[in-house]
Amino acid sequence: MRVAVPRETAPGERRVALVPESVGRLAGSGFEVTVQSGAGAAASFPDEAYADAGAELATGFAETVGGAEAVLKVAPPDAGEVSELPRGAILIAFLQPLSDPAGLERLSSRGAIAFAMESIPRISRAQSMDALSSQSTVAGYRAALIAADRLPRFFPLLMTAAGTVAPAKVLVLGAGVAGLQAIATARRLGAVVSAFDVRAVVREQVESLGASFLDLGVLGEETAGGYAAELTGEQQARQQAELQRRIPEFDVVITTALIPGRPAPRLISAEAVRGMRPGSVVVDLAAEAGGNCELTEVGEEVVREGVSIVGATNLASTMPFHASHLYARNVSALLQHLAPAGVLQLDWEDEITAGACVARPAEVPA
Ligand code: NAI
Repeated sequence: MRVAVPRETAPGERRVALVPESVGRLAGSGFEVTVQSGAGAAASFPDEAYADAGAELATGFAETVGGAEAVLKVAPPDAGEVSELPRGAILIAFLQPLSDPAGLERLSSRGAIAFAMESIPRISRAQSMDALSSQSTVAGYRAALIAADRLPRFFPLLMTAAGTVAPAKVLVLGAGVAGLQAIATARRLGAVVSAFDVRAVVREQVESLGASFLDLGVLGEETAGGYAAELTGEQQARQQAELQRRIPEFDVVITTALIPGRPAPRLISAEAVRGMRPGSVVVDLAAEAGGNCELTEVGEEVVREGVSIVGATNLASTMPFHASHLYARNVSALLQHLAPAGVLQLDWEDEITAGACVARPAEVPA
């Protein structure tokens, strides 16, 4: 099976769908890989490394994907790219199935069989394909580093000849994959960390990382997929009010709370920001979904009421080497699931195949 890896063109996207290591593995198990020249450059993987791993190099998008049975990307293809996809090829990428119906429609019209990394069911059999987790791990780590960098204080406790410095107090809201990694990273930097999540099961995970669970007196439901269900209006209001009371204790708040397919829950009001000490930092990982903080500006870093509010988007792309490395393993695992030993075998009874497929023409070969 011929597999194509185009260069990403979305603004700010520095990741690449396959790294040389994964090209080498696929080449040894029934796949021929074509990589667009420069595809890995922003992630520190030069063309030569791909060639050494057995990839063929091509120049433009059309040349790269021409004749491919599978196209592997990170970001969704734009309209021009969709029009050049080989008909009937499979496409694997983050395709924003819950927020970009027009993009999916374009793919269906083109006859592509599209698999969204976001839609892979979160079952143990699919753990190796879980790109939401791998990229959230990167984002959570980066969020803690950004907070430490912006804070005009030390994270760790220091005992120096000039006196003792108290450790920074960090609050992490939302302790899913990104939140847990932010907790672990902030702890390693020496901060005193507290965390909160609406899912009750998280308390133990938070405590096992050496952080304390902040009891806000609000707990929500967990859906069958393991995600949080949206809080009721009354619960949300109670959570905001309780947070407003507690937030001034903290130097840093890292927020990661998300509800799939819904706007991000509003956790930190402007009033709560006003209550924080000058120099404090909010890193809002939910910025892309509208933000957990009322004063977040998507994609911007602003100072409001003396507090730095970082509304970073696509943080995974700011550490492109390892983000790509992990993503490539996720994508390769899905590809090999769909095409064992390089032969496409789409089993629509299979939970992973059916769950991840977000667009396909009426007639699809099994
Ligand atoms: P996510 O990115 O959808 O949300 C982040 C966190 O925000 C979640 O922990 C959620 O409970 C929390 N949240 C939502 N509303 C909130 C609110 N109002 N206040 C505070 N927190 C709020 O979640 P993520 O990181 O994708 O993980 C979702 C679940 O999937 C977790 O239970 C995780 O353990 C599970 N999972 C399962 C895997 C598997 O079995 N293969 C792999 C990875 C994750």
